[in-house]
Amino acid sequence: MTDGLPRCLTILGSTGSVGTSTLDLVSHHKDRFQIEALTANNNIELLAAQARRFNARFVVTADEARYADLKSLLSGSGIEVAAGREALLEAAKRPSDLVMAAIVGAAGLAPTLEAVRRGCIVALANKETLVCAGDIMMREVAEHGATLLPVDSEHNAIFQVLDRTQPETVERIVLTASGGPFRGFDQRGMERVTPAQAVAHPNWDMGAKISVDSATMMNKGLELIEAHHLFGMPQEQIEILVHPQSIIHSMVAYVDGSLLAQLGAPDMRIPIAYALAWPKRMQAPVSRLNLADLAQLTFEKPDPERFPALSICRDALVAGGCAPTALNAANEIAVEGFLAGRLGFLEIAKLVRQIVESFDWPTPNSVEDALLADEEARRVTRDALSTALQQA
Ligand SMILES: NC(=O)c1ccc[n+]([C@@H]2O[C@H](COP(=O)([O-])OP(=O)(O)OC[C@H]3O[C@@H](n4cnc5c(N)ncnc54)[C@H](OP(=O)(O)O)[C@@H]3O)[C@@H](O)[C@H]2O)c1
Repeated sequence: MTDGLPRCLTILGSTGSVGTSTLDLVSHHKDRFQIEALTANNNIELLAAQARRFNARFVVTADEARYADLKSLLSGSGIEVAAGREALLEAAKRPSDLVMAAIVGAAGLAPTLEAVRRGCIVALANKETLVCAGDIMMREVAEHGATLLPVDSEHNAIFQVLDRTQPETVERIVLTASGGPFRGFDQRGMERVTPAQAVAHPNWDMGAKISVDSATMMNKGLELIEAHHLFGMPQEQIEILVHPQSIIHSMVAYVDGSLLAQLGAPDMRIPIAYALAWPKRMQAPVSRLNLADLAQLTFEKPDPERFPALSICRDALVAGGCAPTALNAANEIAVEGFLAGRLGFLEIAKLVRQIVESFDWPTPNSVEDALLADEEARRVTRDALSTALQQA
């Protein structure tokens, strides 16, 4: 951060869990940040309140039908209002020092790419972007000289302890996983779980989609793919370790036997603060770890039988081509189906595997290609879901 000058921020997805945590940190450091643009999908009441409170210059709802309401909520404020897909891209294109990419799902891909193409700092929460089009995205980052800072707590932890000057000395990356709310459930118990149980994460307070992903452990599989792209690490050198307390956020193992970890309370404001202040650090209003009180940190291997999502993600990464794109799209549709009560919890991974294994589409070479593949994978997943419902 340039000393004495505020850093100008754009927050894509400001009304979500990561977006509101970002603004909470901004509210504690008003002199350090100014807000260029804020975006949301349809929670325009919160969006308008944020825009007024933080004096944003430009505000976007992705939902064109909400434009008139948003405009009226912000009348007299002097804040510029826009709606729709192009407006979302415009928000990412506007000059700012840092873009927080916190839209959920593949909807975040195109706006994140616009920020990357400006060569600015992109704080990446939206892991689906790298799952859907990781190779393409990393190529764009290099080409445009953008700085990609991982916000996902695990990747942020790795970023903090990885010695980028000696990549050859890194033996493996260890991604920790809480195991989610059903870690102790048997297969029969998992068959009957409800959306309300699945979104109630034991350690983290997150949006609905990522909470369901944590419950299936698809989240950890998506993170494996994300780590592969962010750190250039082959999948066989990325280990997944269940650590129910979510205190160690991830580790890097070196050739001399050292294992370096980053620890902290399970609070997303820690990795977000790291990204906002990078390359410096700033105060964050989060609880401090008291290791003596914690007394015990435990670890176990993930159970591949109860959590097949992990191997689906590894297999998709090894298969390459369109497999990760199809995986991400199928998972988004399956999670939507589960949250709407149309699909059982254990059916999520089954449906995703079915789509990944049958999806036949050329390897994407551009973001536009990836978005076409994403659209097609969504279509076939919706069809498969309707067929399954008719047969049930
Ligand atoms: N939450 C966490 O602790 C956490 C941790 C690590 C990584 N992440 C990642 O960060 C991303 C955001 O997660 P979250 O938990 O903050 O999600 P969330 O609470 O569901 O918020 C998602 C944000 O994206 C907006 N949005 C949704 N659909 C959109 C669309 N089609 N077009 C434009 N904007 C759209 C939402 O607007 P509305 O509010 O108007 O719907 C909201 O602002 C995800 O990729 C997730 O995997 C989250």
